[in-house]
This record gives sequence, C-alpha cells and structure tokens, in this order.
Amino acid sequence: MSDRERHEWWQTAVVYQIYPRSFRDTTGNGVGDLRGVIEEMDYLSDTLGVDAFWLSPFYPSPMADFGYDVSDYRDVHPLFGDLSTFDRLVARAHEAGLKVIIDFVPNHTSDQHPWFIESRSSREDPRRDWYVWRDPKPDGSPPNNWLSVFGGSAWELDDRTGQCYLHSFLKEQPELDWRNPAVRAALKEVMRFWLDRQVDGFRIDTVLFLMKDPAERDNPPNVGGPRHLHKPLGAYDAQVHEHDQGHPDVHQVFREVRAVLKEYEPPRMASGEMHVFDWTEWGSYYGADLDELNMPTNFGLLEAPWTAMGVRRVVDGVEAAVPPGAWPNYVLGSHDDPRLATRLGEHGSRQAAVLLLTLRGSPTLYYGDELGMREAEIPPERRQDPWSLTEPELGRDGCRTPMQWSPDPGAGFTLADEPWLPVGGDHAARNVRSQLRDPDSHLNLYRRLLALRRGSAALRTGSYQPLDDVPPDCFAFERSRGAERVLVAVNFSPEPLSVDVPGFAGRVAVSTHRKSEGCELEGALRLLPHEAVVVL
Ligand code: GLC
Repeated sequence: MSDRERHEWWQTAVVYQIYPRSFRDTTGNGVGDLRGVIEEMDYLSDTLGVDAFWLSPFYPSPMADFGYDVSDYRDVHPLFGDLSTFDRLVARAHEAGLKVIIDFVPNHTSDQHPWFIESRSSREDPRRDWYVWRDPKPDGSPPNNWLSVFGGSAWELDDRTGQCYLHSFLKEQPELDWRNPAVRAALKEVMRFWLDRQVDGFRIDTVLFLMKDPAERDNPPNVGGPRHLHKPLGAYDAQVHEHDQGHPDVHQVFREVRAVLKEYEPPRMASGEMHVFDWTEWGSYYGADLDELNMPTNFGLLEAPWTAMGVRRVVDGVEAAVPPGAWPNYVLGSHDDPRLATRLGEHGSRQAAVLLLTLRGSPTLYYGDELGMREAEIPPERRQDPWSLTEPELGRDGCRTPMQWSPDPGAGFTLADEPWLPVGGDHAARNVRSQLRDPDSHLNLYRRLLALRRGSAALRTGSYQPLDDVPPDCFAFERSRGAERVLVAVNFSPEPLSVDVPGFAGRVAVSTHRKSEGCELEGALRLLPHEAVVVL
C-alpha cells in the first residue's frame, strides 16, 4: 500500500502560505491580486514543488486589519479580482496538482458587515444577539477585564444603544457569538459556499476564541513571563487568558466544523490557528475520536530556543502528544511573526529549512522564507498594520512586504512606483531570479529539499526516532519506512562536530553546505560548523 493510500493529502502535503496583497500585482496598483497567484502557479508547482497553498483573506473588507475584518464572506474584494477569478484560480491550481486552502475568519466580522450594521442598530434588532452586547458596569466601566490583543479593553461602548460590544482584536472587528445557533448555522453555510467552489480546506483564524467562559469572568493577572518568547504581546500579556478563549465547549464547535467537511468528497480539511504550547492541550484539538481539527496549528518551533536541546524538546513534546492516527505539523513563519531569517540569521534559517522539510509532520512555508527574506525596515510614515499604531514594536508590516521575484526596482512584484508596503532592502540579492542562478542559494536549498522529500516515502510518512548518543550541540533523528532509512543531523554550534551513527551507511543527499553533498559515510558523520544534513 503506498503512503498516498494510507495518508490523507494534508498529511503528506507541503503547504505554502500566500499573503495575496504581497505576492504579485498584475494591475499596477501596488497591491497583489488573485491573477498574480494564477500567473505564478508554475513557481509553486514546478520551481518550488509544493503541494498546496493557503491564501490569507481576499474577501471584501474595509482593510482595518488587512482582510481579517471581513464585510462579506461570500465574495472577493475588487482589489484582488472577483469570484470568477477565484474559480479560475482553483481550476488552475487543481490542473497543476495543487490543493487550495483558504483563510476562514469566523470569530469576528468587520464592523461594516451588514450583520453588524443591523445588530448595532437597536437592542431589539433580530441580529442583536449575533454579536456579544453587554451593559457596562454601573460606574460606566467595561463589563469585565478582558483585553484586546491589539491593546486596550476588549469592550467598546456604542453610544447608539448604550451597550458595549466585545472585540478581542480591533474595535472594527466585533466578535460573533458562537453560542448562538443561528450564527453557527450561518458560518457553516459560508463554509459550504466555498467547499462548493471546490476549495480543499480552510485555515481557521483565531480558532480558540470561538468559545469563551459563559459566565464571562475576569481573567486572572499574569504573574509569569510573556507567553511568546520571540514576540512578547505587550499589554495583553498582563493577564492569563483563561476565560476569554479556549473554553472546552470549543471542542463541540470543532466537531461541527469537521462534520461539514465530511459532507464533501474528495476529502477536505481544516487547520486552526492557535498558540498553545501545552502539548497535551494542543493534541486534544485533533479530537478524542480524531473528529475535530485535522491540524491544530503548531507554532512550537517558532517559540523554541534555537539550540539542539530547545528544538528537540519541542519535537519530542509534539511527538508524544499527537494522538495515534493523527499527524503533526510545523510552522516557522507567518504574516504575524518577525521573518524567520531575521529571527535565526542565515545559518539558522538554513537549518530551519532542513528541519521543516524533514521532521515527521506537514510543513507550512511562509512566502519569501524560501529566499531567506529579512524583516523589512518600514519608515513610520509607511506603516500600515494597525497594531503598529498602538504598540509600534509589535507591528507586523516587516514580514508582509512584497514577494521578491527579481532585482528590479519593484522586485518583479509590481510596476507601480510605490507598492502598498515598501520592497525589502535586501531584494537585490534575495530574489527568485538571482537565487535560481546560484546553486548555493536559499531557494536552491529549499528546492533540493522539496525534491528529496517528494521522492522519499520515509521523509513524507516514515517514523521519527531521535538519536540520543550525540554531542550536546547536535540534534539528529532518523526517519524510516520499510527498508528506507534517512538520517537528519543539525549542528547548532560554530565548531565542527563528529556524530557516531553505528550501523548507518549512506550518502549526504542535501546539506546546508552544498560542498558536503555526495559525501559517503559509514558509522560516523562529520558536520561542518552550523551544518544540517540529510543522509540517505
Ligand atoms: C489572526 C491573524 C492575524 C489577525 C488576527 C485577527 O491572528 O493571523 O493576522 O490580525 O487573527 O483576525
């Protein structure tokens, strides 16, 4: 039985995240569009060789949070194209053998969504209870102490009716009430709308926020450190977010979501954005009967100290928590996090490529990380992300700049003089055209790894076995399936290292240091400083 038969497509697929505003602009207005994705389909399927892509939101939106504030769930923003462009995109992707995953933002709408406009119009409106409206306290203060991720209270007083509405993000993103059956039914219909248009799956935004404490108790203060190592969340970290998200009733919501997916053939999937680092809790979102999320997103490697021990601890934690029959997944970059190559540097970012594409689990690559694109410096007058207004050091524009296709002034992204965000200062060197010509480039490392993974059942679906008897600066593991054995070893130190691998003989198939490729080894492996290798 081939691994394709035993594994669902999302368990063997490499997913590529596209931020449509920044991928390719075909109209010359400085903003990327869906036709741009269609035109670059060969890059995804052939040049890179990924299996699926996930599109960040392309829906009509006032763009207060760049599309994560949806004002119509069933259409395409004219900036990006229209529904027929979308249909062509899906058809073209399927012809190229690529699956299409779209972002679904069910926790909140835009304040310009007709549902919210109706809801806020009066206390008696039939859609009033589609959102979370509460009276302020008698002294006029908010109903409880819940905070907005982007700063300030999560409650906004609306003068029209004298009540507050809940928004865990911007005040332009009012929270839908998922305890209301009418809301659930409406959002499930939205899923069917896109499933009928043949999308293969959803990345569900901020999925744990869907269920909160029904008693709406105050959150306790956070006396520990920040939740996110690489990116403290500012004022939001002042609380433990015990009651404003992740209520256990969310499991029932996930089961209902999965049931909608199961109405369709060929199989569809849902991943859910969550920042959970307690692996037992994280594993629970696959569902006790594997009937919840196909992939609860795992941001563990983004949080890991970049050392042999730091990385291994995450991987072993994840491996121990994934329920039998479920499948891990890994992420190392996103539109919400500082760029991978800036966080980890050149060596770390190459090691990350090797790990992401060889660990047991489905990887998601963030556009541009395959070029080692750095976080761009955004001058204050060009800042776009609303978060940079409340907490400038947390702004996310630096990782959302245009895809770097060429060394031309608009980076081959646009012909406009001024794209919506400036082109990254490193585009002369870090761009697709130049890197394709350089065998040592980041891009060619990714291409070699992707090709290797395609041809190796052990890498796609084999078991994971860490090697214990290795130097402290080395993380090494074996992936195997049937007779096929693959050894992966990463040297996290600036010194060369020797690793004993008794009984293992093979040839270096891919290395972060290309000159090692082709070397034969038997029983021992020598690693250059910072080197990561895959040996078959
Ligand atoms: C998710 C998105 C982020 C957005 C937020 C609110 O975390 O990834 O970009 O700002 O949800 O929708």
